[in-house]
Amino acid sequence: MKKGILIVFEGIDGAGKSTQAEILMKKLLARGLDVVYFREPTKSKWGRKIRKKALHPDSLTPEEELDLFQRDRKENVEKNLKPALEKKKIVVLDRYYYSTIAYQGAKGIEKKRIRQMNEEFVIKPDLVFILDIDPQKGLKRIENREKKDRLFEQEEYLVKVRKIFQGFKGENVVHIPAQRPKNEISTKIEETVLRFLT
Ligand code: TYD
Repeated sequence: MKKGILIVFEGIDGAGKSTQAEILMKKLLARGLDVVYFREPTKSKWGRKIRKKALHPDSLTPEEELDLFQRDRKENVEKNLKPALEKKKIVVLDRYYYSTIAYQGAKGIEKKRIRQMNEEFVIKPDLVFILDIDPQKGLKRIENREKKDRLFEQEEYLVKVRKIFQGFKGENVVHIPAQRPKNEISTKIEETVLRFLT
């Protein structure tokens, strides 16, 4: 039984979701709320495997990649999300199964199948912020983190990923234009969360 609140941040690389997740955390903590932060891929064994293998282009097939993200998520749900939500905490989560639908979907795996296999075990989020940015601009923001020779290939891929993110609908889904000033974005997110809480 879920008693807390699950808030998810999604978006392509360079959209600024980790920054916004951190700002929201601080704002909620400052209000005296009980908040915890988790991210996927996690720091657990599956998360470490993902960072070692899946994030290096073409070292795994899309199916193998999917399998690792699924294992990592199952563990995250059981070990982190469920216990925190049962303690009535507000959980801020940086990436969730929307990322799998978008990223592994963009590699050709059927999106519906990915959604179904996740909906069998995930806890549905109360709010999902999808930060939307042009891949070229997103990649510019994180340029120093990426290898330059792969930027073009990466951009083509992220164009597909972004399209899938843009297509998510639902009353818990909020699309945010991420090219707006940082403060404007964080205010909008905070307002949405506070409205939800009251
Ligand atoms: P990211 O949040 O960008 O982590 P870091 O801060 O280490 O860069 O996530 C790493 C990558 O993993 C990102 O490019 C998206 C990808 N990813 C998937 O392909 N599928 C998934 O299910 C998840 C959660 C992430």
